[in-house]
Amino acid sequence: MPALVLLGAQWGDEGKGKATDLLGGSVDYVVRYQGGNNAGHTVVVGDQKYALHLLPSGILSPGCTPVIGNGVVVDPAVLLSELSGLAERGVDTSKLLISGNAHLITPYHTTLDKVSERFLGKRKIGTTGRGIGPAYADKINRVGIRVQDLFDESILRQKVEAALDYKNQVLAKLYNRRAIAADQVVEELLGYADRLEGYVADTTLLLNNAIDEGRVVLFEGGQGTLLDVDHGTYPFVTSSNPTAGGACTGTGVGPTKISRVIGILKAYTTRVGAGPFPTELLDEDGEKLRTIGGERGVTTGRDRRCGWFDAVIARYATRVNGLTDFFLTKLDVLTGWERIPVCVAYEIDGKRVEELPYSQTDFHHAKPVYETLPGWSEDITQAKTFDELPKNAQKYVQALEEMSGAPISAIGVGPGRDETIQINSFL
Ligand code: GDP
Ligand code: IMO
Ligand code: MG
Repeated sequence: MPALVLLGAQWGDEGKGKATDLLGGSVDYVVRYQGGNNAGHTVVVGDQKYALHLLPSGILSPGCTPVIGNGVVVDPAVLLSELSGLAERGVDTSKLLISGNAHLITPYHTTLDKVSERFLGKRKIGTTGRGIGPAYADKINRVGIRVQDLFDESILRQKVEAALDYKNQVLAKLYNRRAIAADQVVEELLGYADRLEGYVADTTLLLNNAIDEGRVVLFEGGQGTLLDVDHGTYPFVTSSNPTAGGACTGTGVGPTKISRVIGILKAYTTRVGAGPFPTELLDEDGEKLRTIGGERGVTTGRDRRCGWFDAVIARYATRVNGLTDFFLTKLDVLTGWERIPVCVAYEIDGKRVEELPYSQTDFHHAKPVYETLPGWSEDITQAKTFDELPKNAQKYVQALEEMSGAPISAIGVGPGRDETIQINSFL
């Protein structure tokens, strides 16, 4: 069982950090394969809470090597501050490895992210403002700056100048902003080079060798399936591939080496930023989910939009990721509702639809068709086995499993590492 992918099955914030940390003690490598510091992964260990943005959650497990793969976009200032923050809390960060092929987020990417969102006005995506989209756009446009460029001043300068020649025209003429001086950017980036050089490695070679030697590698996704640039609710998505295929392109490990794909699935649904969300609740129930679930963004502090569980989305996640398992999180948050609605299909223009429509217009028109399940009132946070759950909680989990198309192999009943019911082993 050498390589596993762990990814978000909904719109992000499903509890990937907790799930990764739980496995961290049993795996040799934890690898981020896409996204950047738009992610906010919370890990609770004892009375300590960590919010990780760019670093893989495996960094908190002493035996595990954390890796930032080529598919990630790296803001070097954020990376160094996250590393020093963890070091101050006594976490050993020395094992970190970073792909030399990962792209950098520079100050002009962050500026462009913010001004382009403002320019879109009410059509904005609601990005995290971290420069993610502009950095990936440069990668695809072949004008990006990579981690390895930090170690060759002349190449770095040529690339920054090439990128800024065009961007400064856009900044000045379209957005009415001051031009950014190439020298200043180069100087800032060179200032990070010495501190980062020791971490940079040929991570593709290393990970393939590790898998061939029988070591266990866990790929940790950022964001979620419905935020995927190809398979999500485009254009209200992030600019990378959080879905399972992204783990291959984002690390240079082939699909034949991946044995298991685990979808992290919240027992209800949340979303941050703009875009369609069929089961969104704009009433007291939505407010109650937000309050009890602590649904506030780890990265931007924005309130998360909340709604009931959507089985159409879960089935879609099973399909586009080839999921082998689900890890159902935050079941404890649903304690206390007398009845819990679950969306089993959509009604679109008067017709019942069982699968996620490929048409954006249809998805915007989708109305949830609910089935209502009986709730439970007993505290479930101490449950250690499935049998210890109240009967109605068991039925809720079983119903979700049947609708979602893959076995639920673990259930989260609280934020802590040990607040988990393991049904099938992941390893
Ligand atoms: P991620 O981005 O997928 O890692 O998720 P976030 O960390 O952004 O959001 C998930 C939140 O739920 C965090 O505050 C976690 O500590 C918390 N959490 C994770 N699993 C559970 C669970 O089973 N129950 C409860 N109550 N909280 C959980
Ligand atoms: P984790 O890893 C939830 C959302 C933003 C916005 C859209 C595009 O913690 O689950 P971006 O800055 O990526 O260009 O923003 O994607 N978004 C997330 N939503 N969880 C995340 O990460 C997210 N990362 C980005 O809110 O709607
Ligand atoms: Mg998050």
